[in-house]
Amino acid sequence: MNFTLSEEQLMIQQAARDFAQTELLPGVIERDEKQEFPKEQVRKMGELGFMGMMVDPKYGGSGLDTLSYVLVMEELSKIDASASVIVSVNNSLVCWGLEAFGTEEQKQKYLTRLATGEVIGAFCLSEPEAGSDATSQKTTAIDKGDHYILNGTKNWITNGGSADIYLVMAQTDVDKGHKGINALIVEKGMEGFEIGPKENKLGIRGSDTHSLIFNDVKVPKENRIGEDGFGFKFAMKTLEGGRIGIAAQALGIAAGAYELSLKYSKERKAFGTEIANHQAIAFKLADMQTKIQAARYLVYKAACDKDNGENYGLSSAMAKLNASEVAMHTTVEAVQIHGGNGYVKEYHVERLMRDAKITQIYEGTSEIQKIVISRNILRD
Ligand code: CAA
Ligand code: FAD
Repeated sequence: MNFTLSEEQLMIQQAARDFAQTELLPGVIERDEKQEFPKEQVRKMGELGFMGMMVDPKYGGSGLDTLSYVLVMEELSKIDASASVIVSVNNSLVCWGLEAFGTEEQKQKYLTRLATGEVIGAFCLSEPEAGSDATSQKTTAIDKGDHYILNGTKNWITNGGSADIYLVMAQTDVDKGHKGINALIVEKGMEGFEIGPKENKLGIRGSDTHSLIFNDVKVPKENRIGEDGFGFKFAMKTLEGGRIGIAAQALGIAAGAYELSLKYSKERKAFGTEIANHQAIAFKLADMQTKIQAARYLVYKAACDKDNGENYGLSSAMAKLNASEVAMHTTVEAVQIHGGNGYVKEYHVERLMRDAKITQIYEGTSEIQKIVISRNILRD
């Protein structure tokens, strides 16, 4: 497999690197402290084409491949993982889900606005009692002929307060189990749709995470994605690509922590020499970079599998499982290399460590990735 990047991919990578340095880095510590959503930065990312990277230009997207998307996710995540999760959800869960499975009318009405970043979207599968066990949906969508009546609560929804368009999974026919689940497009402002309070989180604090409450919300039938009962498969297929985005986010967090550690260890002196000259520190850097490079190849492999029309459920789960573990390991080591300064906000690595943890939890915990991987291996 050839991972040599094309001219175009290198340009996009550089554009994301420049944007992260000039637009995300200033204010990243303050946004983290205040749990402030990067509204202006998201608007600018829309202008740069980062909000609908893989969407066909006829729907307002950038028409790029998954590898380009991964490169952008890595660069943004080196600096600001809160901003990158907003990008990831909009691109790989909301836009991709609509483009792959929506009707032409749905694409014209919703995708065109999402892909340009005019509005952002949210993907609503998890519930208070249904996280990993995603088939146990308690939210109901009762069929009333030309519309559904939606009732229930969704939990921990990224972009929950800032989105305008929500893809909501709900149970229409309990007797059919997961085959009775539907995916519905819900708009902010629909009567009975209430946004719950914002969660106060350990990391990715600039991203807004909310519960959502639906009280007899009337959703037109034309807002259902796919055939009746397609909702669970819709969620699973969409998450396969979503996990590539989160794997790239984890990779970026790890690479960001490594770059800061490399610089610091060549500047900071102890016992009459730069700390990089102490083998204990040099070996940490060696371990970090080896794990990051290995993680990068797994993430690129998953992206290339998707671009080449191969099955990518297995490679995306492997990429996410591995990259999230590398992110956690690398950021903990980065704090150690920075010593006391590592524990202080202005050095950035403590935030990266807090941000890394979520990559082992959302879009399927590490334990769930192992279920997906083992089932694939055993089936094959
Ligand atoms: N593609 C298509 N269909 C799939 C599929 C896939 N990747 N995975 C499962 N299915 C189908 C199965 O074939 C089965 O259908 P049939 O009965 O017709 O064969 C059906 O779905 C049920 O599958 P399982 O029997 O495997 O279901 P399960 O109850 O054992 O659960 C699971 C499978 C993989 C654990 C799944 O529940 C899961 O992925 N859980 C984690 C949920 C998750 O990732 N949530 C993320 C929320 S979004 C988010 O987190 C965003 C963010 O933070 C930014
Ligand atoms: P549980 O399912 O209760 O799991 C608890 C523990 O048990 C975990 O360690 C888990 O791995 C383990 N476990 C569970 N089942 C098994 C098993 N069968 N075998 C082995 N171990 C098991 N969801 C959305 O739908 N949309 C979003 O936009 C979204 N954004 C999120 C943002 C944040 C910041 C957070 C924290 C969560 C977000 N989520 C979102 C929810 C996220 O996907 C879930 O938290 C995650 O899937 C885990 O579900 P849970 O929290 O219910 O944990």
